[in-house]
Amino acid sequence: MENEIQDKKGMKKTILVAFAILIGFFVISKILSSISSDPAQQSYEKHCASCHGVNGEGLKDLIPPLANADWLLENQDKFACIIKNGISGNLVVNGKTYNQAMDGKNLNDVQIYNIINYINQSWGNDIAVITTEDVQKQLLNCK
Ligand code: HEC
Repeated sequence: MENEIQDKKGMKKTILVAFAILIGFFVISKILSSISSDPAQQSYEKHCASCHGVNGEGLKDLIPPLANADWLLENQDKFACIIKNGISGNLVVNGKTYNQAMDGKNLNDVQIYNIINYINQSWGNDIAVITTEDVQKQLLNCK
């Protein structure tokens, strides 16, 4: 009789410990995944990917690509201003004409810097890395 009660207590304890270990694993894996994911990629995916695509591929005739886009390569000096103020009117990107509008984004210099360098170094793009000073200089001279 006494043994049976002891067994039940032991069982409860085992279940509790197993549960605590499970929760522990869950918390640790969450922490690890938040450390390992790149904040620049997160910013891009939050603010740009809904239109330009997770891989910068664009969308049909509506949204121009950012991956291997000749227009972007030739207009690096305007990149920060485009993110800040948006862009509209005729754009020819890789031989295809786009005529839509993109709103400016309310992002700070560091977020803009992160997004530009993420795009410039992703999906086969190999465009020079820029500094935060480059971004600030550009933003002071937006047309
Ligand atoms: C709501 C949809 C939308 C979002 C979100 C968006 N864009 Fe755009 N973007 C567009 C459209 C549409 C154009 C084409 C504008 C035109 O035709 O004049 C464009 C054009 C561009 C261009 C110039 C053309 C090219 O492809 O090189 C760049 C650079 C650009 N966007 C970067 C960004 C970045 C960086 C972000 C995130 C900070 C972003 N866009 C978020 C819709 C969007």
